Amino acid sequence: MRKLLIVIGVLMVFMGVVRAADGELDMDLMQTIEDTNKSLASNIAMQNAAGSTADARELHTLFVQVEAHFVAKGDAPDAVDLSRKSKDLAEAIVKSVGDKNFEAASNSATDLSRACRTCHTFYKKS
Ligand code: HEC
Repeated sequence: MRKLLIVIGVLMVFMGVVRAADGELDMDLMQTIEDTNKSLASNIAMQNAAGSTADARELHTLFVQVEAHFVAKGDAPDAVDLSRKSKDLAEAIVKSVGDKNFEAASNSATDLSRACRTCHTFYKKS
């Protein structure tokens, strides 16, 4: 019974992701990414390890959703790649901050912001 409930729970989460993934990219999602990315930059600058880690983890989760959107949309291989790259960079930031290497974290954050711009150049309409 318990296993069945878990399976149903996972299915519901999955269906939610798929539903959110069709059609346009959710603007609230990008706005949250924007806010979190700004917060991350200032936390890294202030060498706030807890804050930087929390922001980078959240960005990772958000880019999982962006990736799901572009996978479902289809015909957007560059956007899928850039979403994955963004996830990897968020993970690299968590790791660098864990090592107290804020310079490396800052470099990864710069690369992450570059990935935002690259994707917007190709996929953002306005
Ligand atoms: C894989 C592609 C991709 C990546 C990576 C990406 N974005 Fe976006 N972003 C989009 C698209 C597509 C839109 C516009 C959606 C539309 O016009 O329908 C958008 C829109 C936005 C907007 C405008 C939202 C609004 O309310 O008008 C902001 C702000 C934004 N992105 C911030 C960011 C930031 C910050 C990052 C990086 C940390 C980022 N994005 C990374 C694809 C991406």
